[in-house]
Amino acid sequence: MADLNVKIGSLTLKNPVMTASGTFGYGLEFADFIDLSRLGAIIVKGTTLHHREGNPYPRMAETPSGMLNAVGLQNKGVEYFIQKIYPEIKNIDTNMIVNVSGSTIDDYVATSAKIAALEKIPAIELNISCPNVKEGGMAFGTSCKSAGNVVKAVRQVYPGTLIVKLSPNVTDIAEIARAVEAEGADSVSLINTLLGMAIDAERRKPILSTVTGGLSGACVKPIALRMVWQVAKAVKVPIIGLGGIMNATDAVEFLLAGATAVQIGTANFIDPQITIKVIDGINGYLKRHGYNSVQEIIGLV
Ligand SMILES: Cc1cc2nc3c(=O)[nH]c(=O)nc-3n(C[C@H](O)[C@H](O)[C@H](O)COP(=O)(O)O)c2cc1C
Repeated sequence: MADLNVKIGSLTLKNPVMTASGTFGYGLEFADFIDLSRLGAIIVKGTTLHHREGNPYPRMAETPSGMLNAVGLQNKGVEYFIQKIYPEIKNIDTNMIVNVSGSTIDDYVATSAKIAALEKIPAIELNISCPNVKEGGMAFGTSCKSAGNVVKAVRQVYPGTLIVKLSPNVTDIAEIARAVEAEGADSVSLINTLLGMAIDAERRKPILSTVTGGLSGACVKPIALRMVWQVAKAVKVPIIGLGGIMNATDAVEFLLAGATAVQIGTANFIDPQITIKVIDGINGYLKRHGYNSVQEIIGLV
């Protein structure tokens, strides 16, 4: 077995494979399919200060090589997470990371401060890139000033590892990455979904209740890969790459482009064991090419 350890902020991951928020529940939903302790990290569902119903149905649409979603951060709020979910997941033997969203800076700060008190959650991923909410969400991630402001405010209350999840719906993602690094982000993850739309021609209506939604899956990979490569040249903090990773070769491509770790999202819906196959496949790639450690291939391209 090659050495698959990587570091993100103060976290050590036993391998670079994480699950993407919103595609893996709280992890427990997948416990019948895989040994959760084999994962580098699990990023749980988006969590907000207050309960959110999410958007009305229909909020999913299949597209060629991908899907559109407009779930809209449905969750029961951070207090419910702390009381009901945390006790169930805190002993899973991997890095358990909470994805935090908000409509205002105060929301982000209040939620992050509550998560900071949880001993077994070593990191948060700040979602400043959700395209499916009316207020906040992606709006924070599309200008350097607002992205920097939310990270600066959260940094003051959150001492753990702070990952900031970037939006691809911008002209220059590298400048946003630099802005959040300057305000104290320990890592950036990219990409969140791309804004898209689907129309039912027979009914002459949009398919999603929200009209637009977030595109994910294999179709977004070339864009995500290009953005990871651009951001890798712009910042010093470790990058977590995601967007359309469907197999181990895709994951290796992100590592070569400069990602220290990767996340798997939509592919979990197709194959609930995909994360384990990707871990084994990265190891196989390293052995086949004579590398002893995954570190040796990060940023080679
Ligand atoms: C159904 C669904 C729900 C999602 N929910 C969240 C979320 O709550 N927070 C977040 O940061 N990203 C969320 N995402 C975005 C994914 O984490 C990921 O960034 C995106 O899907 C691209 O990766 P993929 O192509 O591997 O799926 C969601 C994606 C999907 C498909």
